[in-house]
Amino acid sequence: MRTAIYPGSFDPVTCGHLDIIKRAARLFDKLIVLVSVNPTKSSCFTPNERVDLIKRVTRNISNIEVDSYDGLLIDYFNARNADVIVKGLRAMSDFEYEFQMALVNKDLCYDAETIFLCADAVGTFLSSSMVKQIAMFDGDISSYVPSEIEADIKNGVKRLRQTGE
Ligand code: PNS
Repeated sequence: MRTAIYPGSFDPVTCGHLDIIKRAARLFDKLIVLVSVNPTKSSCFTPNERVDLIKRVTRNISNIEVDSYDGLLIDYFNARNADVIVKGLRAMSDFEYEFQMALVNKDLCYDAETIFLCADAVGTFLSSSMVKQIAMFDGDISSYVPSEIEADIKNGVKRLRQTGE
């Protein structure tokens, strides 16, 4: 059984992430979508909220598990006996950072292979930060996030705007 982990901030999950999730789920027996901590980013949604949003948009995909982890990805990778780390690549600008992380993870654990899936057309310019920015100024995010979580994302961004939390 081949298990892949797709880690990310997912703050919040977008249609670009969902495209990678669907494609990776077809390639592996099991896909763990892992809400992880990126220490360089501040977040809008709590890890539990992000897990809940991902669970709701992936409920029809049977070989997916959604989890969160507040530690080194490689420790989780080893604890779950995973085979592969999956990341999405949007543009060349992503590459240097992703390449560095793949090499660091491989250096920490020789067996940790990272594979990259190219984003689809919309995913290429989409990011969680842009979705939050558009939502913050009441713009239309309906093409960028799954419809069943659109309202929650708008509310989460509004809450951030009101409380600054
Ligand atoms: O969606 P992101 O923010 O690009 O995802 C980055 C993430 C969360 C996958 C990365 O920061 C991560 O793996 N965080 C866990 C800590 C870790 O293992 N860092 C890599 C070694 S420096």
